[in-house]
Amino acid sequence: MNITIEINDEDKEFQVKPGEILLDLLRREGYTSVKEGCKAGDCGACMVLVNGRAMTSCTLYAAQVDGKRITTLEGLNDELADSLRQEFLDVGAIQCGFCIPGVLISSYSLLTHNPNPTEGEIKAALDGNLCRCTGYIKQIEAIKNVARDLEGGNNERRREKI
Ligand code: FES
Ligand code: FES
Repeated sequence: MNITIEINDEDKEFQVKPGEILLDLLRREGYTSVKEGCKAGDCGACMVLVNGRAMTSCTLYAAQVDGKRITTLEGLNDELADSLRQEFLDVGAIQCGFCIPGVLISSYSLLTHNPNPTEGEIKAALDGNLCRCTGYIKQIEAIKNVARDLEGGNNERRREKI
């Protein structure tokens, strides 16, 4: 069947097989920031934004997102995304890096909908993202720092870092 998806601000048409999952479609089309981990909805490595909300692409059929807007990490290039990337680097929230695209997608989704989250809300937002390396402490710190900068309108500090 043919489906049309807006991916990273571009309208694209794809031919997909019945039962083809979104993760496989995205990877075969070159969106390699979307990682294949458990392929069972447990690890969050395959997170993408679907109409602005973080979702695991391994638990969606490609056909289910026909007509929807998908954003992968390749397509996140605004100030919030840049701030998250930089802050993760600055605080040392990245080790092997495998989980990071998914964690950044979840973090971006959180701060888009809730710019001033509590620590509990940050933890809840990362609940679907497994990280074997960092213990999450630095990732939570990075998100808090970006939220604090957003709240204070501290764009200067972020610009300096980018
Ligand atoms: Fe999708 Fe693990 S690969 S949740
Ligand atoms: Fe290695 Fe998260 S940094 S799994």
